[in-house]
Amino acid sequence: MAGLPLSAVAFYLCLLASSSSALRVAPATTSEGRHVRRTAYHFQPAKNWQNDPNGPMYYNGMYHFFYQYNPHGALWDIGNLSWGHSVSGDLVNWAALDTAIDPTAPFDINGCWSGSATILRGGTPAILYTGIDANKEQVQNLAFPKNPADPLLREWHKPSYNPVIPLPADVPGDKFRDPSTAWLGRDGLWRIAVSAEVSGVASTLVYRSADFVHWERNDAPLHSSRAAGMVECPDLFPVKAHGEEGGLDTSASGAGVSHVLKLSVMDTLQDYYMVGRYDDAADAFVPAEPERGDDVRNWRRFDYGHVYAAKSFFDARRNRRVLWAWANESDSQADDVARGWSGVQTVPRKLWLDKDGKQLRQWPIEEIETLRRKRVGLRRNTMLSAGAMNEIVGIAEAQADVEVAFRIPSLEEAEALDSNWLLDPQKLCGEKGASVPGGVGPFGLIVMASGDLQEHTAVFFRVFRHDDKYKVLMCTDLTRSSARAGVYKPPYGGFVDIDIEERKTIKLRTLVDHSVVESYGAEGRACITARVYPEHVETSNSHMFVFNNGTDKVKVTKLEAWELAAATVNVGDEGLIVSESKDESESY
Ligand SMILES: *[C@@H]1O[C@H](CO)[C@@H](O)[C@H](O)[C@H]1NC(C)=O
Ligand SMILES: *[C@@H]1O[C@H](CO)[C@@H](O)[C@H](O)[C@H]1NC(C)=O
Ligand SMILES: *[C@@H]1O[C@H](CO)[C@@H](O)[C@H](O)[C@H]1NC(C)=O
Repeated sequence: MAGLPLSAVAFYLCLLASSSSALRVAPATTSEGRHVRRTAYHFQPAKNWQNDPNGPMYYNGMYHFFYQYNPHGALWDIGNLSWGHSVSGDLVNWAALDTAIDPTAPFDINGCWSGSATILRGGTPAILYTGIDANKEQVQNLAFPKNPADPLLREWHKPSYNPVIPLPADVPGDKFRDPSTAWLGRDGLWRIAVSAEVSGVASTLVYRSADFVHWERNDAPLHSSRAAGMVECPDLFPVKAHGEEGGLDTSASGAGVSHVLKLSVMDTLQDYYMVGRYDDAADAFVPAEPERGDDVRNWRRFDYGHVYAAKSFFDARRNRRVLWAWANESDSQADDVARGWSGVQTVPRKLWLDKDGKQLRQWPIEEIETLRRKRVGLRRNTMLSAGAMNEIVGIAEAQADVEVAFRIPSLEEAEALDSNWLLDPQKLCGEKGASVPGGVGPFGLIVMASGDLQEHTAVFFRVFRHDDKYKVLMCTDLTRSSARAGVYKPPYGGFVDIDIEERKTIKLRTLVDHSVVESYGAEGRACITARVYPEHVETSNSHMFVFNNGTDKVKVTKLEAWELAAATVNVGDEGLIVSESKDESESY
C-alpha cells in the first residue's frame, strides 16, 4: 500500500498495489518491474489508450485531470472514448478513479470526446464536452458532479436536456467540437470557444450563455481561416502582459492582461499559438503579430516536438497557469497492443508571457523537483573544445533532470545561414545534426546513449549568422535514438527567440523519462518533447554526455543533474480505497 499526498483536504487515499495489472503485458521490464518504455513521472493511465488532456481543474483542495481514454484497449477506438479521471494533491502523484463520462446516452452514445471544466459562480464545477450522438454527429454536452461534496467528484451526471449545443445547420456533422473552459464577460455572460468548419472555413466559434445551459452563437467567430484546414482544441486564456510569472483566472481581463489563443491544426497535427488582445465587448481577438497572418501554421509553437491538443487551466492554489499536452507513441500499433498502453502527457508546465509580449515561457511545475534525489555535477567552467564529450556519471540516466548553462565566449565562427532555412528549422536540424561539425555549436546534451554510442539522442543548440545578426537553432535529433526500424525518428527543432550576442549564455534543461526526452531551451522559450525507443535499455544502462562539435569553444558555467524518483502515477487500475482521516500533514 502506498499513501498519496492529498493533504489539503482531511482524508487520504490508499492504493491497493495490484501486482498484476500494469505488468502483465510487459515483455521487457526494468529492475523495478516497470516496462522499459513506461514513464516514471509523466502522466499515464495504468493501461490502455489515452490522448487529449481534458478538463484539468483545481477544486476544493484537489487537482483533477481527465483525459481521452479507451477503456477497452491500447488503440484509439472512435466509438469507445470515455473520460479517464485521476486526482492529485500535488500534480505529480496521481490516483486513478473510475471513468467520469462514458458513452451511454443518445447524445454521446458514439463517444465522449474532448472538452473542458469551468468552476461556476457558486463554486460548482461543470464540464462541457463533445458527444458523438446516435446520428454520429458532434454535439456539445454538459455534465455536473453528482455529489459536489464528494472530494473526489467520482460520479458525473449528464442532464437529459443535453445536448446543450446541437449541431448548427452550416457545420458538417464531423467538424464541431472541443468546447473550451468558459470565461465570464463584463456583461455577466459566460463564453466558450468551440471549433467548427463553417461553410468550408475553419472557425473558432464563440457561444454565450447566462445560465451555462442555454447557449447562443455569436455571428462573428473569434478566429477563422481557410488556409490551414480544420483546427481543434481551442484554448483562449489570459496572461499577465509584462512578463510576470503569476497566472490569471480564465475570466481575467482589462489593463495589464494579454490573451493567448492556442489552436491545434489537424493538417500538421501540431499546436500553434498567438498572443493578442481579446476584447470582450466585441468578442474579438486582435493578434499581437498580425504579420503572421490568419494561417495558424505560421503562428508560434510552444513545443517543436511530438505533442498535440494541449490544454491549460488556472491553478488557483498556487496562482499560476498550467499546461499539459498529449505526446503519442512513435512506434507501431502492434507495439502499443503488446505493451497494453499508448500515449503520455508532458509534465505539467507553468506558462507565462515573456517580457517581449509575443512568446510564451514554460517551465516544469516546481513540484517535479520533489522527485530529485541523487545529484551530480560537472566542474564549473569546464571548457568544451571542438569534439569534446564529457560524460555525466553517477545517476540512473533513464530517469533524470539535467540543467546546464553554456557560455559562448565568441561568435566569430558562426556559420552563415541562408534565408530559405528560416522557414524550415526542423529540416535544418536534419541537415545539420549533432554529428555535422559547425562553428558555434552544435553543443548540448547526448542522452539515452548506449555504451558504444550506436544509440543516442542529441539535444543541442547551433548559432548561425544571418544579416549581421545571430540566430539560435535548438534541435532534438532522434535519427540515432533507436536501432529499431519502424520507429518514427525525425529531427525536431525551432529557432530560439533570444539575442545571443547580448546574453552570451544559453541554458538547457532536459527531463529524461525512459521513452520521453522533454527539453526546455533558453529558460523555457523553446521546448521540444520527443519520444524515444532505444533498444539497449533492455540489457544495459544508458549514458549521458555534454558535448561540443563546433570549432568555437563553449564553456559549461553550470551543470547539475539529478536522478528522479518514480512518482505514484495511477499504479493499479483497481482497488482504490478512500477513507476519512484527520491527517492534514502538508506534503508539498
Ligand atoms: C467498443 O469496444 C467494444 C469492446 O471492445 C467493442 O465490442 C465495440 O465494437 C466497440 N465499439 C465501437 C463503436 O468501436
Ligand atoms: C503520432 O505519432 C506519429 C509517428 O508515429 C506522427 O506521425 C503523428 O503525427 C502523431 N500524431 C499525433 C496526433 O501527434
Ligand atoms: C561530432 O562530429 C564528429 C564528426 O562528424 C562525429 O564523429 C561525432 O559523432 C560528433 N559528435 C556528436 C556528439 O555527435
